[in-house]
Amino acid sequence: MNHPITTTQIPTFKSNHPLGQVLAFKNTPDQLLARMEQLESPVVKFRLAHLPCYYLTTPEAVHQVLVKDSQNYLKDGPFFKATKMVLGHGLAFSDGDIWKRDRRMMAPIFHKKCIDGFFGLMLDFANRLVNDLKTNREVVDIHAIFNELAMNIATNALFGADLDKNKSDILLAKFKIMVDDIIKRMSGLSFPLWVPTPANQKLKNAVKVYSEGMKEIIEDKVKNPGHTMLDLLMHAKDPETGELMHLQELIDQVRVFFAAGTETTANALTWTLYLLARHPKAMTKLRQEIEQVLQGEEPTLEKLPQLAYLHQVIQESMRLHSPVWVLTRQNKATATIAGYTLPPRSNIFFSAYMLHRNPRYWDKPNDFIPERFAPGKLSKEDLKAFIPFGAGPRKCIGDRFADMEIKIVLIRILQSLDWKLRDSSEAPQWFSGSLQPKNGMWMSFQPVESKVAVR
Ligand code: HEM
Repeated sequence: MNHPITTTQIPTFKSNHPLGQVLAFKNTPDQLLARMEQLESPVVKFRLAHLPCYYLTTPEAVHQVLVKDSQNYLKDGPFFKATKMVLGHGLAFSDGDIWKRDRRMMAPIFHKKCIDGFFGLMLDFANRLVNDLKTNREVVDIHAIFNELAMNIATNALFGADLDKNKSDILLAKFKIMVDDIIKRMSGLSFPLWVPTPANQKLKNAVKVYSEGMKEIIEDKVKNPGHTMLDLLMHAKDPETGELMHLQELIDQVRVFFAAGTETTANALTWTLYLLARHPKAMTKLRQEIEQVLQGEEPTLEKLPQLAYLHQVIQESMRLHSPVWVLTRQNKATATIAGYTLPPRSNIFFSAYMLHRNPRYWDKPNDFIPERFAPGKLSKEDLKAFIPFGAGPRKCIGDRFADMEIKIVLIRILQSLDWKLRDSSEAPQWFSGSLQPKNGMWMSFQPVESKVAVR
């Protein structure tokens, strides 16, 4: 008879330091996870301060948690407590019946028909951006610019009007403090919030200003209804109970949209521009496709699916620089993963970034080869090692929104501008709440001859 292997037999990445792997997890998580992978086990045990943790290294183990046995896994534990404290209790951070209800209520808002309705808005913002970059001869931090763009697009889709620039700058700055704080809290490096350290005061202030800003926007919307995502959310009824969301729930959901949707999209755009600048052949091939399909015209909703290479470039960019680089879960009941038994409420980690660059699953994993995503090249099994939007019932609800935004912005930039990186060396990555360029992404832009009329 086969006995499952018990926790004590799970290969362990040992540390004699009282903090365990906390510092390595915070500073160089990619190196830490790579060292753990050298133990060649689907499950590796390690320690963050006093907390035993488990790192899943194979696509099969991750698939089991996200898809096959997803009902046994919660977004709970000290790592989600930190996130919930900072980002609220919206769709991305709830569990059980509340999550089910929220996902049910929000599914229609993220349906293709609704998302397609934002095409014009995204195109307008892309055109404005291109106009700005055309007249700007300075070296700019495109990561900061894309963050503002994604925030503006999300704000408009949600609320229907441009936020006052001052207000959006403040919200963006506060939001950044919140997101950057999460990773520190996740690795156990911060004092509990009740301790009045300067960092905690700063975070509390950021959460307060952010929540108040959101509350004001929502209250204004009640007085001035329109046809925005927030209007839909405010009128969304739970099909089972007929209930509407109350104010705090709306604030939390809006917070999640910004948290989950802006920086991730901005990072994907930033890394794609970076990779294209370093791979001129791919850039030329992409420009040719765009020219061939769009014939010098602006993109349209109907033409987007015809841009196959564009899709491959974006997939490959998110493979190499997965905007969400790490995910965590806790199991409700005892779990058996790859023959190893994990006790209930184990802290489980897995990393899209590491799966996406693992030589077991990818040929030349660190090279930029968009063609690997050409139709028919990767099997369903291969794609288990590709999870930029997660997988299973908790897969990103905003993937269609992000995909459309990234494509429109890239097309308009490629049709209108050339760009050059300030530093030709490899850009260092920062494994923060999302995968960011460590020192911004500095580039200069030059207009190219274009037949496309910019409005
Ligand atoms: C390139 C851009 C994006 C990436 C890479 C991304 C990635 C992800 C990932 C990996 C998850 C799963 C998290 C987990 O399983 O723990 C997720 C969930 C989620 N994302 Fe995205 N996302 C992006 C854009 C967006 C946008 C634009 C929105 C909203 C407009 C959004 C809203 C959400 C929400 C609400 C969830 C939680 C879904 C649930 O738990 O039911 N995301 N995203």
